[in-house]
Amino acid sequence: MTTAIIGIGNIGGTLARHLAAGGESVVLSARDPDAAKKLATEIGSTAEAARSNRDAVERANTVVLALWLDAIRIVVPEIADLLTGKLVIDTSNPIAVGADGSVSRTLPEGQSSGEVVSRLLPEGALYAKAFGTLSAPLLASAAHRTPDPAVLFYATDDNGVQSEIERLIRVAGFEAVRAGGVDASLRIEVGGDLHAFGGLNGRLIDRTEAESLVGSSTRA
Ligand SMILES: NC(=O)c1ccc[n+]([C@@H]2O[C@H](COP(=O)([O-])OP(=O)(O)OC[C@H]3O[C@@H](n4cnc5c(N)ncnc54)[C@H](OP(=O)(O)O)[C@@H]3O)[C@@H](O)[C@H]2O)c1
Repeated sequence: MTTAIIGIGNIGGTLARHLAAGGESVVLSARDPDAAKKLATEIGSTAEAARSNRDAVERANTVVLALWLDAIRIVVPEIADLLTGKLVIDTSNPIAVGADGSVSRTLPEGQSSGEVVSRLLPEGALYAKAFGTLSAPLLASAAHRTPDPAVLFYATDDNGVQSEIERLIRVAGFEAVRAGGVDASLRIEVGGDLHAFGGLNGRLIDRTEAESLVGSSTRA
């Protein structure tokens, strides 16, 4: 299986390293193809650079959009005709970071980026929200935690993609717990009760606690 990662910044770059370290074949795509080449060379033989976002999607079964919401709105139309039958994983949180470091919400309260991104996808594409529940530094440092792996929550309406998304989360060095369908996205985005910058206050949790929290009635 090959996973395309579009956007190789904080989240995409970290995820590329984790997946490749777990033996997953990754194809990296950046606005600047030379940046993708540089990272692929650094990572080694399980990583390749794509010539473009379309090239990356053509070479992969699964596509990770490690992009800000604004960039997702631009990139999805560019690759939409190639997405039929592919799993699209969205890492986005509906926030913007100002030049002074201030963080603001980019969607109205109560609307999740999961809801927005899943609706942008063409019919036939499969959607999951994942890999966006920890800060990039935590995502980088918490892989392969022992004795109990740290949980990454995911959300999807497609029962058929559950095994693939869980496989990728495990390959990356984490335990996978489904928060629910796309309507659970708010819970696993910034401010949500299952997000590190929300109810979890930066805490990593194990499967037992994660499953109990998913089942609890707490909502963001
Ligand atoms: N950072 C975190 O702690 C964190 C945690 C959880 C979730 N997230 C979410 O994950 C997403 C990515 O965040 P990030 O921190 O990784 O952002 P980032 O470091 O800014 O990386 C985003 C990457 O997207 C690339 N990009 C923009 N437009 C593109 C295009 N048309 N084609 C290909 N690549 C393009 C950018 O390339 P250029 O440099 O060329 O613009 C940049 O490398 C966001 O939605 C964010 O909310 C972030």
